[in-house]
Amino acid sequence: MDLTQKIISLCKRRGFIFPSSEIYGGIGGVYDFGPLGVELKRNIKKVWWEVMMREENMIGLDSGILLNPRVWQASGHLTAGFADELVECKSCHKRFKADEVASNKCPECGVKLTKPRKFNLMMKTFVGPVEDESSTTYLRAETCQGIFVNFLNILNSMRLKVPFGVIQIGKTFRNEITTKNFIFRTREFEQMEMELFCHPKEADKLFDYWKEQRLKWYQNFGIKKENLRMKEVPKEERAHYAKRQIDIEYHFPFGWEEIEGIHNRGDFDLSNHAKHSGEDLKYFDEEKGEKFFPYIVETSVGVERPLFAFLAEAYQEVKGGRTKTTKAAKEVEVLLKLHKSLAPIKVAVLPLVRNKPELVKKAKEIYNLLRPHFTCQYDELGSIGRRYRRQDEIATIFCLTCDFQTLEDDTLTIRNRDTMAQERVKIKDLVNVLKEKLAN
Ligand code: GAP
Repeated sequence: MDLTQKIISLCKRRGFIFPSSEIYGGIGGVYDFGPLGVELKRNIKKVWWEVMMREENMIGLDSGILLNPRVWQASGHLTAGFADELVECKSCHKRFKADEVASNKCPECGVKLTKPRKFNLMMKTFVGPVEDESSTTYLRAETCQGIFVNFLNILNSMRLKVPFGVIQIGKTFRNEITTKNFIFRTREFEQMEMELFCHPKEADKLFDYWKEQRLKWYQNFGIKKENLRMKEVPKEERAHYAKRQIDIEYHFPFGWEEIEGIHNRGDFDLSNHAKHSGEDLKYFDEEKGEKFFPYIVETSVGVERPLFAFLAEAYQEVKGGRTKTTKAAKEVEVLLKLHKSLAPIKVAVLPLVRNKPELVKKAKEIYNLLRPHFTCQYDELGSIGRRYRRQDEIATIFCLTCDFQTLEDDTLTIRNRDTMAQERVKIKDLVNVLKEKLAN
């Protein structure tokens, strides 16, 4: 089994990620995040938001998924700018991205393919009770358009001077021709975008600053430097709005692929929205008496690609078991070494055995004590070794074991996921000790 298959299997087995609508045979390119996946996703979004918000002049926004369809005319998404070339098999009618098929024969059944034609990726829907052209709109294909069309609102309400940045996290939809590699390319995903409005002369400098910041972010949360690289995208391959584009690529289990895009969008968006809406979207610098369309430097990433990368990076198999007991000798134990800020469960509370009511009662008291402070699990099923392994597999940072000594002196052991070292701590100190250990 390759690493992607192992991750898919772990995600399904342990409640990270499920195929959407599975009991009806699924729906292509959509995934549901289970109890652990939703925590991991929330943690990724949290650390992204917090790091972004530490920057000067950074503010947040939560705009609608549905926008006036004229937004997408102005943005270039309804024209050739946002279309892939597809080819179709003349026999099985399966469609493929033209640049992904090696010959003009169908990869599935070997029959001839049609000539390439443009296929727009916007997801169509209707607003209101009548389904006609006038009520047609689209689910957003990038979150940043909601930021651009709010430029005046933000400027007027927040009294900001350039350069300032607006960040947003939210659902995005693209009717991708082919979806593949698990959650790498899906039709529904979440984007985390930052749009920095600046003077045109400052754009190059800020672009360089942000590409470094974003590279550091991955490394700070557990991605190895050698698994990241930057690709300067040549003009003919750039997005239709980009004056300059760098793709941050990650060495996924299936090869090097884009994880995030850094774009200098120039004044493409504001000038086009000004033209289409008739509003004056220029910025006026009172001190210099200068009026101009700010340039936009963008960092844009889906939540799912880093999530996949963090899982791939954290996944380890230990042959013969981590504790090297004879029982474990034939087993392969999985250890998921996610960064402590990302791990879905921070603490698991385990009574040493479950057939001693006093121990179970004590362990439940400790679980209740910790629940308001940390994401916790209580687990009493199976041997203690097996329970440690179950927690290692889902990246739980600490396992707390309630044993017979706990009943005598109100202490318990804290086991560290990565070192397996155990230390005894007084219950009354527990919350503070754990908070300290989990702090960055
Ligand atoms: N606003 C700019 C923009 O949307 P993009 O390069 O089209 O740029 C940015 O997308 C990021 O969004 C990608 O680097 C990737 O992380 C994520 N992304 C794009 N399409 C995706 C898809 N079909 N499935 C999952 N993530 C996707």
